[in-house]
Amino acid sequence: MAAAPTFPTDSTNQDSIARDNASDYNWHPWSTRRALRCISCQNTYPLRAVIYRCSECGELLDVVYPRPRVDPERLKRRWLRRRASTNPIDLSGVWRFRELLPFYDSLDQIVTYPEGNTPLLDAPRSAAYAGVRRLRVKHLGFNPTGSFKDYGMVAGVTQARILGMRAVACASTGNTSASMAAYAARAGLASIVLVPEGGVSFAKLAQSLDYGALTLQVRGDFDVAQALLQQIAPDLGIYILNSINPFRLEGQKSVMIELLEQCGWKAPDRIVVPGGNLGNSGSYGKALRELNDLGLLTKRPRITIVQAHGAAPLYDAFSSGHSESLVRVHARTLATAIKIGSPVSWKKARRAVHWSDGWVTSVDEQDIADAKAIIGSDGIGCEPASATTLGAVRRLAQEGTDERIDPDEDVVAILTGNVLKDPDYTLRYHSSELYEEFRTESVITGKANPLKSNFANPPVVIDATAEALIAAIKDRLSI
Ligand code: F0G
Repeated sequence: MAAAPTFPTDSTNQDSIARDNASDYNWHPWSTRRALRCISCQNTYPLRAVIYRCSECGELLDVVYPRPRVDPERLKRRWLRRRASTNPIDLSGVWRFRELLPFYDSLDQIVTYPEGNTPLLDAPRSAAYAGVRRLRVKHLGFNPTGSFKDYGMVAGVTQARILGMRAVACASTGNTSASMAAYAARAGLASIVLVPEGGVSFAKLAQSLDYGALTLQVRGDFDVAQALLQQIAPDLGIYILNSINPFRLEGQKSVMIELLEQCGWKAPDRIVVPGGNLGNSGSYGKALRELNDLGLLTKRPRITIVQAHGAAPLYDAFSSGHSESLVRVHARTLATAIKIGSPVSWKKARRAVHWSDGWVTSVDEQDIADAKAIIGSDGIGCEPASATTLGAVRRLAQEGTDERIDPDEDVVAILTGNVLKDPDYTLRYHSSELYEEFRTESVITGKANPLKSNFANPPVVIDATAEALIAAIKDRLSI
């Protein structure tokens, strides 16, 4: 068994800082052959190596391919045609774009649910709340397991099957685990899930139980669980399906391709995305970089990453002007999906921000809670982590302290998870029972720092009589 790669600390010297930032800007997407390539020193590894970091310098890896030789206009037509196919692979919102993720050798290796094909929705109340003319949301919560993770998991599990792995594992704040458990079950692989004990919503925990994963509740936070898994996985022959796995991010690229197609290939000005472990934003950067090189982008949409204020190490790095290093934080936020203090993929996210001339910002708990209710009032709904996007658009459009969003900008917010992922949070908000010190969604441990439920729509209890029913309606609605 190969020795486990060592993981470097984040204390970088001046030479590597200069090199890293330069490679963010001069980032070449293609390669002469299919391979895994270090994002920093460019060392390459075989496509089928079970490896997550460069063994030379310890940095993350990209999956790279030769530049596709198909004419981009033909590619667009082919992708569109596949929507009318009866083949599940063609119908998948990931594999429909398979020319841009050709890491498989034959179509029979491919796993699919299918996934993707998520809607791009106009959100007029959200736009008015944020103070922009128009806001569209791409809702990735319409996936089979209710979050964006399915876009990546289908690719990660496909690679696990190609490699002949018997077991897959992840540390998770709940959505990765739900997705991995489902896809592993579909592919006939054993799955092992590590979640912070009491730090994951019941809905997400229930999913991984139902899909048959060995579900381990770790007495520690996500960052501890993630480090533990990286320590033990190589020796046990377990394949890690966190976003440190570059194949996951290949699948997540499809979100951008699908979005561009939905926009009639007219790129939006800005794409706002929540950031936790920072794999998703990193994958968007790679997708846009490749699409740009193929001539499929009309402009570079500015990737704007939003973190929760209490879990914002990338924001801290950017706002202090030191994006060359990341200081881990002890994460605190009710948006448990992004409660991450030491994000693995931060250099890929930084590369995406630099390349797209984007931005990193943060929002507080009140911003998140109110934005979530507003997205709900559009009849859309999402989980708290996703609502950071609207909170950020509002702040940047109205305050414009660090970066300004022009009200006429064409903005797309990425909603990463379904409203049913965290019903407890939603109920508490609408019942004016949401507290910042309300530690988890599953256990009440304290009730300090109440949040205001500015847009509450509380449930009303009535007697079981026609009079009470009529009174309740007339009191509240002018119909
Ligand atoms: N939104 C939701 C709903 C998430 O579940 C996550 C991450 C993110 C945003 C952030 O994405 O990590 O790629 O920056 N959830 C992971 C999990 C960590 O384990 O489910 P990221």
